[in-house]
Amino acid sequence: MTRLSVNINKIALIRNSRGANYPDLLKVACDCEEFGAQGITVHPRPDQRHIRYSDIPALKEVVKTEFNIEGYPSPEFMDLVIKNKPHQCTLVPDPPGVLTSDTGWDTARHQTFLKDIVSKLHDAGIRVSLFIDPVESRLHAAKETGTDRIEFYTGPYAHDFSSDKSKAVTPYATGALICNEIGLGINAGHDLNLHNTRFFKENVSGLLEVSIGHALVCDALYFGLKNTIHMYLRELA
Ligand code: PXP
Repeated sequence: MTRLSVNINKIALIRNSRGANYPDLLKVACDCEEFGAQGITVHPRPDQRHIRYSDIPALKEVVKTEFNIEGYPSPEFMDLVIKNKPHQCTLVPDPPGVLTSDTGWDTARHQTFLKDIVSKLHDAGIRVSLFIDPVESRLHAAKETGTDRIEFYTGPYAHDFSSDKSKAVTPYATGALICNEIGLGINAGHDLNLHNTRFFKENVSGLLEVSIGHALVCDALYFGLKNTIHMYLRELA
């Protein structure tokens, strides 16, 4: 089974654009769960332009499914995560001002740093996932950090999907076999949508979870949130 974790950053972005609490982030998170989402993801960035650090404790209180916090493991981020103990923390190598995550960790180069961070999160009882490109050496190096899972960065897959979907998915399919062999759980995310998610799932063996935000919120403008979540769940069934 592949679980759908809804990334609610875009909901926070809309809320922040007017200064009041509308849409209500907590209500949206609860509604996503009621409509069938199996997880809620947030990605607080240093400028807090969408999810704010202050949103996290309240979300932790109301989220009943899997709560996943993504981000760069700065001291402030680590403090926030360890205090709020989500089920999962996904570490991404984003520099502070980046528009959106656009590359995975170089797990060999940052192995000592990541090992230390993974162990701190494990001490707090938090499962860890590393955002990563499907490169064999990086998967083996990820395993060495002690991480439980990796999250495949699916931006390049989504980009190449319309020109040659088989070619686009091949590195991920191969990477998944390696993960299955060495015992790394597999998540995936970025630019997944109603057109490319099913094919990805069908070709990536052992895909445990996808986190989807931008496309899902855009689709909800046309189909409504409930229908949209049901449509994504059908793609993952
Ligand atoms: N995974 C990570 C690490 C991300 O940074 C994002 C975007 O915040 C996503 C998944 C979800 O990507 P999208 O919004 O394109 O669905």
